[in-house]
Amino acid sequence: MKDLSDYRTSYEKSSLVEENLPSNPYKLFDKWFDELCESNSVIEPNAMTLSTVDFKNRPRNRVVLLKKISKKGFVFYTNYDSRKGIDINNNKNVSISFFWPSFERQVIIEGICSKISAIDSDKYFYSRPIESQIGAIVSSQSTVIPNREHIENKFNSFKLKRPEISRPSNWGGYIIEPRNIEFWQGRKNRLHDRIIYQYDEAKWSISRLSP
Ligand SMILES: Cc1cc2nc3c(=O)[nH]c(=O)nc-3n(C[C@H](O)[C@H](O)[C@H](O)COP(=O)(O)O)c2cc1C
Repeated sequence: MKDLSDYRTSYEKSSLVEENLPSNPYKLFDKWFDELCESNSVIEPNAMTLSTVDFKNRPRNRVVLLKKISKKGFVFYTNYDSRKGIDINNNKNVSISFFWPSFERQVIIEGICSKISAIDSDKYFYSRPIESQIGAIVSSQSTVIPNREHIENKFNSFKLKRPEISRPSNWGGYIIEPRNIEFWQGRKNRLHDRIIYQYDEAKWSISRLSP
């Protein structure tokens, strides 16, 4: 295996300059996201790492897909009874992060997580391909299963029966209302740009963090 200590990249593609920053971080997030989409070079640009902590304060993270950004926050969908669902039920403080290596950019968001409305979850659930809907119905996410066949059999026998499909009440969306959003732009000599927006008393303040 290659010596990992030899991996070294100089980041030189862009910068974050105070004079050009919007007062609202959503604007910067949108701009960065548009650039990713326009480049057509990033696979799953909306994949984000979601960190939660369990009742013993043990952290765990996993990748989920960002499906919507509203004025209130960042939305993803999952099984409410999954491990992350149980964690969030117990502790609504979560963190999400994005790493877009081809742009040498990272975004880290800390916030408060809550379920979205059943109506909004329905809207998204029924917009998914039928196979994905069935997948969500037959999978008790995060529980131990005996083997691969077990879940495939469940899927196939559900499909064969052709029952009317309705969104399981334990599957739906969460919204993360950000408390702070940090934008990281890689720079030369490890002197990266880190700009953090913090939400307090209904307004955003901007600070620069040491790299
Ligand atoms: C690219 C990618 C996208 C994923 N998107 C989702 C998602 O949107 N929702 C979800 O529940 N799991 C998603 N997963 C699976 C999760 O990473 C994880 O395995 C699953 O949600 C169970 O996590 P938990 O046991 O910690 O609750 C995705 C995984 C990858 C690699």
